[in-house]
Amino acid sequence: MQELAQTLQPWQVLERLRRDTSADLCRAAVSLHDCRQAAQEKFGNLAHGMMFDSQALQMASSGPVAAHRATRFATGESVADIACGIGGDCLALAQRGRVAASDLDPVRVWMARHNAEWAGVGHHVVVTQADACSPAARCASLFADPARRSDGGRRVRHGNDYSPSLEQIVALRSRVRCLAIKVSPALDEAQLPATAEEVEYVSWRGQCREAVLWFGATESVRRRATVVGSGSLLWDETAPPVVEVGPPGPYLYDPDPAVVRSHLVGLLAKELNASLVGPQVAYLTAAEEKVTPFARCFQVLMQVPFGLRRLRQQLAAEGLRPTEILRRRFPVEPAALMRDLREAGSTGTRDVSLVCTKVAERPVVFICDPR
Ligand SMILES: C[S@@+](CC[C@H](N)C(=O)[O-])C[C@H]1O[C@@H](n2cnc3c(N)ncnc32)[C@H](O)[C@@H]1O
Repeated sequence: MQELAQTLQPWQVLERLRRDTSADLCRAAVSLHDCRQAAQEKFGNLAHGMMFDSQALQMASSGPVAAHRATRFATGESVADIACGIGGDCLALAQRGRVAASDLDPVRVWMARHNAEWAGVGHHVVVTQADACSPAARCASLFADPARRSDGGRRVRHGNDYSPSLEQIVALRSRVRCLAIKVSPALDEAQLPATAEEVEYVSWRGQCREAVLWFGATESVRRRATVVGSGSLLWDETAPPVVEVGPPGPYLYDPDPAVVRSHLVGLLAKELNASLVGPQVAYLTAAEEKVTPFARCFQVLMQVPFGLRRLRQQLAAEGLRPTEILRRRFPVEPAALMRDLREAGSTGTRDVSLVCTKVAERPVVFICDPR
C-alpha cells in the first residue's frame, strides 16, 4: 500500500487494491494508510507500523508530550493507564517501567498491544479490556486520559461528560500513590477538582496541548507551565503572580500559551523585567531583550493607532511586508486584516510581524521585527 501510494494517485491505488481485495478491506487499508501518514506528526517514524482508527489517532497524545509526562512518574514504578486508546501514552510510560493498560474498546486494546510490540516495549506492557471505573491491575500510580468527545464525535465541555468522567477518575485517588489526569487545557477552572495538588499546562510546538491534574506527584507545585523540551515555570502560591501595566517599550513578548493558561504571565514578567501592555492583555513589554523559551520576543519598529488606511500607508512608506498577524483583545480577525492589507497590493520588501491589541482601551498595531 505504502509503495503504491508513492507512485499512484489515490483513485488508482483504490482501483489496484480492488483487483484482489474486498471493498471493506480496501477502505480499511486506505484509512489506515491515511492515519499513518497523519500520525507522523505525533509519533515520527514509528507511525508507519502502528495501528490506528482515525478517532483514536485524533485523541492520542503526541509522543514528545507523553514522554515529558512519563518523566513525572517515579522511575521503575508500575502505572495503570486506564483509558489507553491505541496506546500513545503507554509507549512513553513503558520507557520507565511496567504499564498495565486497559480500554473499554476491544479493537483499541488490540491496537495498543500491537503498537507496544511494534515500538519494542511489549515486554513492559500488559493490555486488557476493562472499564476504567474498576481497573483490574493494582499499580503504584494511575494515569487517565478520558475521551472528551460525545458519541457523535463532538467535543464535550464539562469534565463530568468525559468518559470516564472526571468524578469517576478522582474517586480512584485513594487506591494509588500518584494519580494524573489529562484534561482539556480549556477546561473551565471552576471544574478543576479542589483535591488536585497541581495543575500543569503543557505546550508543544506553540500550542497548549493539555492540562494535567496531579495528585501525589513528587516535587509538586500548585501551578506549572511546561514548554516541552525547554523547561517549566513553577508557582506554589494560592494567588497568581501579579504584574503591573506599563508604557510600551522597545520589546514586546508574546507569552507561550501554557504560560497564559496557567496564569503565570506575572511570573514571566518578573523574569523578563517586563510589564503588561494593557489590563487583561497577555502581551508583555520591556526595555531590554532577554532570551526565554516561555515567550516570543519582537522588537517594536513602530506603534500605529489602528486604522486600515493609516496602517497601509505606514507599511508602504516604510517598505514593510507583514508576514504574520498576532492579536489579543483586538476587534479585527488576523486573516481578514491580512486579506485587506494584501488586497491593497504590497510593495514592501522587509518582512514584519504585526501585533494587534489595545493600549489604554484604543486599538493599536505594533509593527515588529520578529527576533
Ligand atoms: C483520549 S482516548 C486515550 C488516548 C490515549 N491516551 C493515547 O494517547 O492513545 C480515551 C479512551 O478512553 C476509552 N474509554 C472511554 N470510556 C472508558 C471507560 N469507561 N473505561 C475504559 N476506557 C474508556 C475510549 O475507548 C478511548 O480509547
